[in-house]
Amino acid sequence: MKEAFGKTYSEAYDAFYREKDYGAECDLIQLIFNKYGQGKITRVLDLGSGTGNHACHLAARGYRVTGVDASEHMLNYAREKCAATDQKNPPEFHQGDIRSVKLGEKYGAVLMMFAVLGYQVTDADVLAALKTARNHTDAGGLLVFDTWYGPAVLNEKPGRRVLKIPTGDGYCLRTGEGTLNVEQHICTVNYHLQYFTEDKMISESRETHLMRYFFGDEVKLFLREAGFSFLRMGAFPDFDKEPSEDTWNVITVAKAE
Ligand SMILES: C[S@@+](CC[C@H](N)C(=O)[O-])C[C@H]1O[C@@H](n2cnc3c(N)ncnc32)[C@H](O)[C@@H]1O
Repeated sequence: MKEAFGKTYSEAYDAFYREKDYGAECDLIQLIFNKYGQGKITRVLDLGSGTGNHACHLAARGYRVTGVDASEHMLNYAREKCAATDQKNPPEFHQGDIRSVKLGEKYGAVLMMFAVLGYQVTDADVLAALKTARNHTDAGGLLVFDTWYGPAVLNEKPGRRVLKIPTGDGYCLRTGEGTLNVEQHICTVNYHLQYFTEDKMISESRETHLMRYFFGDEVKLFLREAGFSFLRMGAFPDFDKEPSEDTWNVITVAKAE
């Protein structure tokens, strides 16, 4: 089994998530910046920036954005995409591990969007990623991240999901199958990608993604330990809604102490 965000998965990433509305997510991020940010936030660090969708949108809105990701494949797509948009201040992207990277810079806000924190599955790794975020945030600056929400994951349970995505000359089937480790708050998702032209399979690959889900109290504890104060956990993307057993994704806002 290959490590997550390898070549094939990265290549198909934007197609898999073509219905995810990154523009609307950036509207919410800006709303959060305006509501909870002290003064004007101008510099943003996107940890786990992936193919650069938030970074490109935010740069186009005038923010100075730096992205960090471990996957060179995801970074290549991000760089290509942002270069194609011909922005005045395109985002900068660096390869690095968000549990240890040191950029020597501080930002008004740090983002970890689309369950990036959930990819850090042990307590030590979660804390290391949050400490990285704190070391790169101005005092009073913001941390914003979305995660899977434990009560909903336990209530609704992950299952088998098949996505069919058109490709240039055929289609790709992505089958995802999740199993829970309730003791450790981890869901193992096995992805099987199969590429077809007409009805003939021409290639296939597999990846395993380990995803941690979170409960409100542990998030508050982790944040305090990393030097943040908790401000709000709301449903994602319906931020004003309180999370419930039916809220798979939540977004958390914290302030650097
Ligand atoms: C689901 S994708 C989200 C990408 C992007 N934030 C988005 O919203 O589309 C998770 C990303 O986090 C990155 N990632 C996960 N753990 C990481 C780590 N420890 N260090 C750096 N990148 C990491 C992966 O390589 C992947 O690009």
